[in-house]
Amino acid sequence: MPLVDDFGREVTGIRVSLTDRCNFDCVYCHNEGLGDTRGPADPQDEEMTADEVVRLLEVVAEFGVEAVKFTGGEPMLRKDLEAIINRVPDGMAASLTTNGTFLPGRATELAEAGLSRVNVSQDALEPEAFARLTQSGAYDRVLEGVEAAVEAGLDPVKLNMVVFEPTAGYVPEMVDHVAEHDSLQLQLIEYMPEIAGHPEWAIDIDRVHDWLEDRADRIEQRDMHDRRRYYVSPEDSTGEGMVEIVDPVGNTDFCANCQRVRVTHDGQFKGCLNRGDDHRSTGDMSRTEIREAFRETVAKRVPYYGEYLVEEDGEWVRNEEYFETEQLPADD
Ligand code: 5AD
Repeated sequence: MPLVDDFGREVTGIRVSLTDRCNFDCVYCHNEGLGDTRGPADPQDEEMTADEVVRLLEVVAEFGVEAVKFTGGEPMLRKDLEAIINRVPDGMAASLTTNGTFLPGRATELAEAGLSRVNVSQDALEPEAFARLTQSGAYDRVLEGVEAAVEAGLDPVKLNMVVFEPTAGYVPEMVDHVAEHDSLQLQLIEYMPEIAGHPEWAIDIDRVHDWLEDRADRIEQRDMHDRRRYYVSPEDSTGEGMVEIVDPVGNTDFCANCQRVRVTHDGQFKGCLNRGDDHRSTGDMSRTEIREAFRETVAKRVPYYGEYLVEEDGEWVRNEEYFETEQLPADD
C-alpha cells in the first residue's frame, strides 16, 4: 500500500537523479533545484553507486512505489545506467528523461534492460535555435537519438519542450512534427522560473491551451485530475499525434495531485522540486535508514502552491506555518 501524506496524496512514483553532470547547458535548466549542471564529464564521488540506487528502489517498492523515472543532469552520462535499469525491482516501471545525445548505440540495450519509455528534451526543430537554447551543437545527434529510441521500441517516446519566451514561436511546428510522426508524443512544459530564475521569460500558458484547443481534432480527459490530451493531425495527410501541457506554475490542482518524491544524485530524498529546505539524507543508506527517511519525507510533504505558498492579493507568498519549520541541513 502506498504511503499517504497529510494532504491525502499517495506517493506512487519516484524520480531519481543519477548525476548532476550534463553535456548540455540549457538556459532554462532548473537542475532539480540544485544549481549549475555542466561539469566534469567523469564520475563524481558524491553520486550514488548502482548498488545504492537499487537498494533505495527496493525499499520504496516495499511502500508501493510502482514507477521510477531516472533523470539528471544527464542520466546517460552514467555508464552503468543499463545495469541499474536491469536491476529495477519487478513490477516497477522504469522510464528516463534524457537530452538524447547518447541514445544512438544505447537505446536497444536500454530497452532490453527493461526501460519501457523515454522523454527526450527537444525544444526546437531548428539547429540554430537549438544551439542557443542548449548551448550545445548536438542537434543532429538528438534527432538520431529520438529515432534510435523509436527503433528500439520504447513507447511512448515523448519530446519535452519547455515553453517560454525564446521557444513559444516554435510550438506550432513542434505540434506539426508530432502530428506527422505517429511514434512521437509532445509534452509542452510551462517554464518554471522558481529555481531557474528569469521570471521575465515566462509566458501565459493559457494562450497555449487556447491555441491547442483550436488546433486539435479531439481532446480527451480520462478523469478530472488527468491531464488533457490533445490529438492533432497533419495538415494534408492522415495520422495522429498526441500533445499534453504540463503547467505546474501557480497551479494548486497540479500540486494537490502530485504523487512523486525525488532523490538527488547524492542520495537525499526531496519532497518537492521547488524546495531546497526539505531534503532528507539517507545517511549511509542502510535499508533501515532509507525506510525512515522515506517515511519522514512523505509525512512532511506539503503542496507547494496552495499550502507552502498561499495566494494573497494575486501574489504567491510564503505560508509562515511551513516556512518556520525546522530546516534540515543538506548532507554534504
Ligand atoms: N522549466 C520547465 N521545465 C524545465 N525542465 C528543466 N528546467 C525547466 C524549467 N526551468 C525540464 C526539461 C527537461 C526536464 C528534465 O525538465 O524539459 O526535459
